[in-house]
Amino acid sequence: ATIRREDYTPPAFLVDTVELHFALHPTATRVRARLAMRRNGESHDLELDGEELMLLSASIDGVALPSYRVASLPSGGLRIEGVPDSFMLETLVEISPEANSELSGLYLSGGNYFTQCEAEGFRRITFFPDRPDVMSRYSVTIEAEKTACPVLLSNGNPAGGGELPDGRHWAKWEDPHPKPSYLFALVAGDLVAVRDSFTTRSGREVALAIYVRQGDEDACGHAMDSLKASMAWDETEYGLEYDLDVFNIAAVSDFNMGAMENKGLNVFNTKYILARPDTATDADYEGIETVVAHEYFHNWTGNRVTCRDWFQLSLKEGLTVFRDQHFSEFMGSAAVKRLANVRRLRAAQFPEDAGPMAHPVRPDSYVEINNFYTATVYQKGSEVVRMMRELIGPASFRKGMDLYIARHDNQAVTIEAFVGAMQDASGIDLSRFARWYAQAGTPEVTVSDSFDEATGRYTLSLTQSTPPTPGQPTKQPVPIPVAMGLLGPDGAALPLRLSGENAAEAPEERVLLLEEAKQDFVFEGLGTQRPVPSLLRGYSAPVKLHGLGLETLGFLAAKDSDPFVRWESAQQYATAEMLRLVAAYRAGQEPTLPDGLAGIFAAVLERAEQDPAFAAEALALPSEDFVAGQMRIADPEAIHLVRQALRRQLGTRFASRFAALHDSLADAGPYRTDGDSIGRRALRNAALTYLGRADAGDGLARARVQFAAGANMTDVLAALRVLVDSEDPAREDALAAFHASWRADPLVLDKWFTLQAVSTRPDTLAAVQALAKHPDFDLRNPNRVRSLVGAFAAGNPAQFHATSGEGYRFLAEMVIALDPVNAQVAARIVSPLGDWKRQSPDRAAIMRAELERILALPGLSKGTFEKVSKSLAA
Ligand code: ARG
Ligand code: ZN
Repeated sequence: ATIRREDYTPPAFLVDTVELHFALHPTATRVRARLAMRRNGESHDLELDGEELMLLSASIDGVALPSYRVASLPSGGLRIEGVPDSFMLETLVEISPEANSELSGLYLSGGNYFTQCEAEGFRRITFFPDRPDVMSRYSVTIEAEKTACPVLLSNGNPAGGGELPDGRHWAKWEDPHPKPSYLFALVAGDLVAVRDSFTTRSGREVALAIYVRQGDEDACGHAMDSLKASMAWDETEYGLEYDLDVFNIAAVSDFNMGAMENKGLNVFNTKYILARPDTATDADYEGIETVVAHEYFHNWTGNRVTCRDWFQLSLKEGLTVFRDQHFSEFMGSAAVKRLANVRRLRAAQFPEDAGPMAHPVRPDSYVEINNFYTATVYQKGSEVVRMMRELIGPASFRKGMDLYIARHDNQAVTIEAFVGAMQDASGIDLSRFARWYAQAGTPEVTVSDSFDEATGRYTLSLTQSTPPTPGQPTKQPVPIPVAMGLLGPDGAALPLRLSGENAAEAPEERVLLLEEAKQDFVFEGLGTQRPVPSLLRGYSAPVKLHGLGLETLGFLAAKDSDPFVRWESAQQYATAEMLRLVAAYRAGQEPTLPDGLAGIFAAVLERAEQDPAFAAEALALPSEDFVAGQMRIADPEAIHLVRQALRRQLGTRFASRFAALHDSLADAGPYRTDGDSIGRRALRNAALTYLGRADAGDGLARARVQFAAGANMTDVLAALRVLVDSEDPAREDALAAFHASWRADPLVLDKWFTLQAVSTRPDTLAAVQALAKHPDFDLRNPNRVRSLVGAFAAGNPAQFHATSGEGYRFLAEMVIALDPVNAQVAARIVSPLGDWKRQSPDRAAIMRAELERILALPGLSKGTFEKVSKSLAA
């Protein structure tokens, strides 16, 4: 059944307080719930959500309800007719954490108990109005066997505990802050705590703890540092302090997503907590910093102010991603963090916006809400917040945040509450801007210009349009902030004086607002030489920009002051050349490295040491998917061939420079994760990767040495990747050695699977099929599924789209096997099959057939059903 945003009605009953009692048992956990309920609408008939719960008893105000008064709903919920205006409902249910392979609700992982309740998991724990606009105060008592579960955690502050007969014990937790059920959490088991503390600026002493399995204590330092830095940053940047006596994090290996912001008890995928130099890469360290910050920041943007309904998901997610990105920019090299985030946005969100599941940042309808935890809601949602800040300015934005929280603390609100606060704080009308939340699809901006030498007048013409998306055939213009400058022939910044403005105050950078379908911006006083426009500096809006020629792109790549524009122009240049080479290859011509592109690389290499992190980004050719995204019908084979040929030729052309970089950037000192150290390793490994591709030379020998030296996981993995992509005789031994060293560390073993899944070798598909039968492959572990199946289908387009259709068949089989085990992950990994529209007819036919095969599966989950049926219908 489709849920529609316009059908929202307030909850019929509210729950003021919740008392939960858990008697934990692997197959028969008993949950007693006492809910202080109050009628909020007209009806006296109470309906509660429930899923896979066995009801043992129910009472109202202490009087047991006879079974005929408690009707079961088809969904698994309950209906009790004729309840009083306010009453105490008590239920007792039994659930089996061990049988819970969906990892939603209460489940076991490695013998320990964890919960995941967002979005609709609480109903798998007890009967409840499981919707975010029902906010309650919780007190939770957990009872369990003491040896199996020495640790008993829930939300809020500790409120007692003690011994029980038969080797059992109990602990009580009280959360003073009202919250929706999706923020409930329980963790219990044999875990150890890594402890620290943080004193808030008003003097509250907060006990911090990260709970992990024994043996992982030495891998929590970076997460703890990131947590303390986040707590401090939220105080200085937003004046927001933590509001409980404890902040606990628990890490779990079996987790559907990255992490969860449960009040006072964040639960994390181990991937975003555990890191040691020998086990985690620089990218892992950066991911931990970002995700720890993200979940911490949710305490105010998400928990204290929450969502009225799930259509408002971006209210908390877009805003919190914006906050974590801003924090990470502050912690590292801001420009490089920005372009890495833009790269990710374009890799994940643009295809979504162009595909069958395209939806606005605030969706209008859904079948399964878990399908809408998307790059659109998160990343595009963050870009929308970022644009708002750009439009109203940082000071008004901060005032708007203060106002938002002052107005809506302890409320469940809609996106209007956020936009309204920003509008009231700034005095700037944002009603048109709100279209960004309502319209799906990536706007396309086209630039053209003219210059009058006689008057020094330069006219910049910008047009915008947004392509149709499923259910939204026509689009309106959106307000697009275009941060820009104009460059003289030498690259110098020119004064930006719009017609009618005073010459004295002309700035060198400004933000134009493109609000209409077409607008001209006329600049005066520019002398006699045609200026070059530098547009979308810092990527001021999540749009595609067209209309700049190769010459302009090359000029900007070399001369612009804005690092984003320099990087972007080089990427666009390379993309244009790759598209040309793909077309030429289809006409029978072998790809050869264009001089212009070689020139851009030479210039980057020339200055590489000045900013190694930036150079590493600039040396990466656009991904195969990015290039495919520019074609009406993709040609994965040709794109792969062209990209590989360019990599080989670049490696060969600049071999001596790459070798020199690989030598000079070697670092014998201790491993450090500051931005500079990460940047140097990134550049050094980019050099190694090109050397590994080069026709001749010692790239593979260097990789063997670097792999064997085993200095840190970043360097080891970069070296192993070079070997895995090669025909080197040491390849198999290196893979075997890596497996032998790390078979007991699941996160490292995931990397072993992924390297092979994304290999550029032609035999990769067969290798992936074999790996799915490897004893270490485990369909029940989401990280492992993502590391092999996800990495292959979403990260290896050339092999996934093999003309045999074997790649499609492989993915379909995995989805079919996974759907009954973990529907959420199954629905997530099926996405690449939905891209059939942009493939050749022969491929599209097989993809559709595989989608049909999945759709015919009896008992298919509603999440997978929604994805597959929408993909077929598009
Ligand atoms: N709120 C979490 C976060 O962004 C994501 C949890 C989503 N879980 C889910 N099953 N859909 O940090
Ligand atoms: Zn989040």
